[in-house]
Amino acid sequence: MISAVITKYFKELFRTEPRIFRAPGRINLIGEHTDYNSGFVMPAAIDKYTYFAVQKNDEKKLRFYSYDYKELLEVQSDNLHKTNKLWANYLLGVIAQFRKEGLDTQGLDCVFGGNVPQGAGLSSSASLEVGFAVAINTLFNFGLDSLKLVKMAQMAEHEFAGVLCGIMDQYAAMFGVKDSVIKLDCRSLEHEYFPLNLSGYKIVIADSKVKHSLASSEYNTRRAECEEGIKIIQKKHMKVFSLRDVTPEMLESMRYEFTPTVYRRCSYVVKENNRVLQAAQCLKDGDLHALGALMHETHEGLRVKYEVSCIELDFMENVAHLSDYVIGARMMGGGFGGCTLNIVSENFVENFTADLSAQYKSKFGKVPDFYIMQISDGATEVKN
Ligand code: GLA
Repeated sequence: MISAVITKYFKELFRTEPRIFRAPGRINLIGEHTDYNSGFVMPAAIDKYTYFAVQKNDEKKLRFYSYDYKELLEVQSDNLHKTNKLWANYLLGVIAQFRKEGLDTQGLDCVFGGNVPQGAGLSSSASLEVGFAVAINTLFNFGLDSLKLVKMAQMAEHEFAGVLCGIMDQYAAMFGVKDSVIKLDCRSLEHEYFPLNLSGYKIVIADSKVKHSLASSEYNTRRAECEEGIKIIQKKHMKVFSLRDVTPEMLESMRYEFTPTVYRRCSYVVKENNRVLQAAQCLKDGDLHALGALMHETHEGLRVKYEVSCIELDFMENVAHLSDYVIGARMMGGGFGGCTLNIVSENFVENFTADLSAQYKSKFGKVPDFYIMQISDGATEVKN
């Protein structure tokens, strides 16, 4: 449906036949703020996508049309720079990465748009970067492998959007597989798929409608605080390269060398890494209740120690935690707004959303958006 609209716009604007690509947003079952600490995460691609209609042009121009913003941007291929349009910077950032590899895109036309909610912690930006990287790589036959494209998409976010993100979102947008979560080791970049058998349950995403802005310095500050923690630990433990290598005992024994804030950040990350490993075991054992308990611990850690939650997310998590219909809930993504992820008994999804809507409305005067997510495949060309 969206791909048909994008194609139509492309043909009207550029009068040629495009090729169509798409990349998904993502959820993350558990493992938050662990990716840039070389730790473990457990994301999955979702059935919400950004679509791209692309074709070469002979005019040495890069022309982009955002279907969602109804805006056109044209730049000369030999004059690549950041613009004041954030949406365009993600795409220009990807092109800049290809240039660094000595791969020149020359003239390119692109219409894009999709249904990944923006600013909601579902990684619409990663779907933009990864989908566009796959589109360029395929259209120009550049032959880069998928992992290389993931790393380039991540660098596009660092250099053109100013967020020093980890690799989780781009990785999930590329390597997602239908009905499975990805247990990713962010150090070795090896992954294992775990079929997500939610028999009797559904994943319900509740969007607080508080728009997060990861670029707002807080995300980068958390990253810097973790790095500060590592430097302190390395004074005693030379073989520690990241919080991934740190045990709770090491941290405890050096507790008084940290500022209280840095200690709290590190303590959260060390515990969260361990929770991902435990969660993998829960999935193997089919123990969804134990998984739900870990999700609650993650939320508490993000709220109290990592301090990336907000009152709206805490309220939603608490309603879910007290609900008989929900076995696990937590805030998801970078934080400061966005969504909670809830595992809800499938016969009571409507009861849950109605309860949460009513309570949220009476407290904050607005109603959350709800999405019942299916787990889907990663970025691909869409053949008509
Ligand atoms: C954002 C970043 C990811 C990750 C999460 C928190 O989504 O893009 O790399 O750090 O926040 O887990």
